[in-house]
Amino acid sequence: MKIAIGSDHGGFNLKQDIMKHLESKKIEVKDFGTYTNESCDYPDFAQKVAEEVAEQNFEFGILICGTGIGISISANKVPGIRAALCCDTFSAHACREHNNANILALGERVVGRGLALDIVDTFLNSEFEGGRHAKRVNKISEIEKKYSK
Ligand code: RB5
Repeated sequence: MKIAIGSDHGGFNLKQDIMKHLESKKIEVKDFGTYTNESCDYPDFAQKVAEEVAEQNFEFGILICGTGIGISISANKVPGIRAALCCDTFSAHACREHNNANILALGERVVGRGLALDIVDTFLNSEFEGGRHAKRVNKISEIEKKYSK
């Protein structure tokens, strides 16, 4: 499994923790920045990671900012991206099982490190259930197509 990860300065410390965590589990992770605590703009990193995931260079993306809100809104502007902001483990498996989320968004200022790592593990270990959920996810794609013209 290959993971693309990115954050702004507000998510930088948690990004570093998540990368160490994934590497300790031998999961391949590529860091698309930011690389320091210096103030920067979350859409830049959302776009990089979202494009890599949309182009299927990576199976999943993980994006972190202070709240997870700005970076998830930005990622969801890239066609094919379903970024889910999760603050609990129920949402982390439900967004995979029901929504086929391909990017997990987290807020470093919202969730603690321990919960964040559990959310990451839950997200990566859950699978899309298809069936009635596929019909609904296809409808998301139809909305996207309508406004991509
Ligand atoms: C940066 O201060 C902060 O606004 C950003 O990390 C994020 O929370 C935006 O949604």
